[in-house]
Amino acid sequence: MKSRSPGLVSLVGAGPGDPELLTVKGLKRLEGAEVVVHDRLVSAQLLDRAKSSARRIDVGKAPGVRRWPQSRINTLLVAEARRGRRVVRLKGGDPFVFGRGGEECEALVAAGIPFEIVPGVTSAIAAPACAGIPVTHRGLASAFAVVAGHTSAPLEQLDWAALVRVGTLVILMGRARLPEIVALLLRHGMSEATPAAVISHASTGLQQAARGSLADIAARARELGSPATVVVGEVVDLSERLAWFTPGEAAGPTAREGVVA
Ligand SMILES: C[S@@+](CC[C@H](N)C(=O)[O-])C[C@H]1O[C@@H](n2cnc3c(N)ncnc32)[C@H](O)[C@@H]1O
Repeated sequence: MKSRSPGLVSLVGAGPGDPELLTVKGLKRLEGAEVVVHDRLVSAQLLDRAKSSARRIDVGKAPGVRRWPQSRINTLLVAEARRGRRVVRLKGGDPFVFGRGGEECEALVAAGIPFEIVPGVTSAIAAPACAGIPVTHRGLASAFAVVAGHTSAPLEQLDWAALVRVGTLVILMGRARLPEIVALLLRHGMSEATPAAVISHASTGLQQAARGSLADIAARARELGSPATVVVGEVVDLSERLAWFTPGEAAGPTAREGVVA
């Protein structure tokens, strides 16, 4: 009996939330997909771009609810590709920025499944941009670092002494542990006056931002929802002049129902 040749798995970055921030290549792959395996924070408008016959599988988690274990997602991708299907693995932002895309690729390589990466617009850069904050700016910051603020390992294991000297710090998944992160930055020599901002639901109709300094950002951002990105550094002050985004005019979800949960 002739064995079926495996399909292709495309790991596609969906961008930060606004469906128009998907790349042209990402859209082509989504429109051609037979199976779409997606995360929770992928907008319903984006999923609508797949064929109505495409199977949509939500492997994301709502806060507090158990998500699919990574091994089960890997097994699903391999199984669907072995059936000869065109599979899109749609991930928020960029697949290789705290997205476990590398682990999925390793599983595909081990199983001999052809795959490709379609990079996406990462929230690490897009969230600050949507609040009028360039992560680098001549004379203010010539480097930036992207840090996970919610790691399985204790935050103390990161090299904070080095991080405070980088220029701009962008912290993903750091909203819940913001007071702890601020304390670490201060302990490693950052001034309380260092500008800081938190941007939630960036690029969508739900976008909100809080701006202040390390002294008060945790209190100012208390009411902001998730997902949220924290930015620390002198570049934050540029948002006073460069803020441009009007959530009411956003193409992305404007209500919580618009976010696939
Ligand atoms: C698991 S990480 C995935 C990051 C993703 N791969 C990327 O490149 O943007 C999820 C974190 O990204 C950030 N994030 C994602 N979408 C966001 C948005 N629309 N606004 C602000 N932050 C966002 C938040 O810090 C969230 O906790």
